[in-house]
Amino acid sequence: MQTTYPVPARVSEGSRNIANNMAAYREVYSLAQSDPDRFWLAQTRERIAWRTKPTVGLEGGYATVAEQPFRWFSDGVLNVTESCLDRHLESHPDKTAILWEGDEPGDTRTLSYHELHEQVCRAANALRALGAQKGDRIIIYMGMVPEAAVAMLACARIGAIHSVVFGGFSADSLRDRINDCQSKIIITQDEGMRGGKTIALKSVTDDALEGTRSIEKVLVYRRTGCDLAWDESRDVWWHDAVDSADPAHEAEPMAAEDPLFILYTSGSTGTPKGVVHTCGGYITYTAFTHATVFDLRPDDVYACVADVGWITGHSYIVYGPLANGATSLMFESVPTYPDAGRYWDMIERHQVTIFYTAPTAIRALAARGDDFVSRYDRSSLRVLGTVGEPINPDAWRWYYDVVGEGRCTIVDTWWQTETGGICITPIAPTTETKPGSATLPLPGIVPIIVNEEGQPLFGPAQGRLCLAHPWPGQARTVWGDHPRYVSTYFETYKPFYFTGDGCRRDRDGYYWITGRVDDVLNVAGHRMGTAEFEAALVSIDAVAEAGVVGFPHAIKGQGVYAYVVMQAGHEPSEAMEQQLQDAVRKAIGAHAKIDRVQVVPGLPKTRSGKVMRRILRKVAEGQPEALGDISTLADPSVVEAIIAGAKT
Ligand code: WT7
Repeated sequence: MQTTYPVPARVSEGSRNIANNMAAYREVYSLAQSDPDRFWLAQTRERIAWRTKPTVGLEGGYATVAEQPFRWFSDGVLNVTESCLDRHLESHPDKTAILWEGDEPGDTRTLSYHELHEQVCRAANALRALGAQKGDRIIIYMGMVPEAAVAMLACARIGAIHSVVFGGFSADSLRDRINDCQSKIIITQDEGMRGGKTIALKSVTDDALEGTRSIEKVLVYRRTGCDLAWDESRDVWWHDAVDSADPAHEAEPMAAEDPLFILYTSGSTGTPKGVVHTCGGYITYTAFTHATVFDLRPDDVYACVADVGWITGHSYIVYGPLANGATSLMFESVPTYPDAGRYWDMIERHQVTIFYTAPTAIRALAARGDDFVSRYDRSSLRVLGTVGEPINPDAWRWYYDVVGEGRCTIVDTWWQTETGGICITPIAPTTETKPGSATLPLPGIVPIIVNEEGQPLFGPAQGRLCLAHPWPGQARTVWGDHPRYVSTYFETYKPFYFTGDGCRRDRDGYYWITGRVDDVLNVAGHRMGTAEFEAALVSIDAVAEAGVVGFPHAIKGQGVYAYVVMQAGHEPSEAMEQQLQDAVRKAIGAHAKIDRVQVVPGLPKTRSGKVMRRILRKVAEGQPEALGDISTLADPSVVEAIIAGAKT
């Protein structure tokens, strides 16, 4: 049974999207495929304010990526903040750029384009005065306050490369990132606020800085006014440095391929990678996708309730919406504070027209019942988006029927930190949707499904999702380790970019993303590596070995299942379990939690000593009957013990 959901008549009125109907979509798609340079040059010239307009499209490609990153628009010169700020001062200086909703309902602030421009200029001058220069790395470790966006844009304004670290990460994680990119300045705040609780950002920063040498200055925004440890030689109040700075600043001219930011993300193995996005391609792609996917209109109140610590916040709270001159809502709190009606309350109060969230939040809120939704007026809504993980059809229908009252387009947007922006998605209001499918690729995106041997599959098929051609928003490299970029993404299924996701394509050519096929976990939309969990667990003296896998979780999408082998002489206990939780919290952050722990006599290994993760996965998924071939195991009795003690 596969019902398609046609376009509601009301939402299609007034759309001037690139693809107003499916025939137009197919035409634009095939133009972009047959002449990508022409398509993207036209897009960037139309959407982006260049100092020197580019004349070249793509140079290089996947075949030569090992020698050199591919490039887009390489002869263009720009500063992305001129697209996001300066040019809007002529047409709509007083329009709200950032509409902030604080942790307490109704605690709001607005920054017009004029005010945001001024703040960014002041912050840019302040950063320069603190010694920041073009090309320097600056870490931003903040909560969801407008100043986080100001900080990002101020870095971009002076040509410094920002790296935002999500405020839930631990001191250890923050330290690793500081050291990896050799950041010179860190911008933080005294405390974050979330769901009525405070988050000690400055004191975690202080901890992280022990064991780093590169940081010269810590710029601290005051959010709560709590008492702080203060190092006069290093720490600077945002208010002292920024408020008194000159409100005019001449933006630094940047080459299209100069780095704009680094964002760390987890992979199958090793420590998180610093994914690098560059100025010209990234801003083009985020502006294009934000306007196209959501069918953006001039009076929209657009709300993406992600965190700027993740790519969604970069692309669809800050860069895309501001490049498009939109009003972008920034939300400091959580969906259940003070109760499960918070989103809908906020939508009513701010008359939100486009709302973008994650399936995990939809599932959690659906479980609280419809009353929390129906008590608020949602008639302003037109487009409802989801991102971060596969959305199950039940959650999709609840979003469509209950939240959207059957009037809104649902856009299930598939993309990744590495893709910079949305790749596979319905285009509102045009694409007919199917609950649970991300539907069709955007123009410029060429999906290929391959089998495990890497052979492309045609027509309806199931396999691994690759993309065949570069687009402007694609990450160019891994900071300081280009070979790692090449081996992670381009060597598994040559000559394609491998996404790490499994995928099905149906008869209509619609894509259904089934989730990661590698050792990356997606827990409540948070991407984490199993290897990071395992490293944290084996750092405990009592733990000899650990194997961590995901299992299906009704709300979080995936839960974390840890198999632990104890050192001789140590017994499992409650205190021991707490020690495991503390270890992952310390190594990764507050968002990392183990849902199930199983103490096992050993891990299932092949005779050559390789852990057979497939077995761990199947048992955690509750499918011990589907283990497949286990004849290569060194010690089959281990598997019996694992099955016998499985936690469900
Ligand atoms: C992974 C990327 C993209 C911003 C947030 C996550 C999963 C993302 C969808 C979707 C099914 C999805 C994939 C992907 N994912 N969107 N609409 N349907 N899966 O970015 O942290 O880099 O994670 O999130 O598994 O590979 P990220």
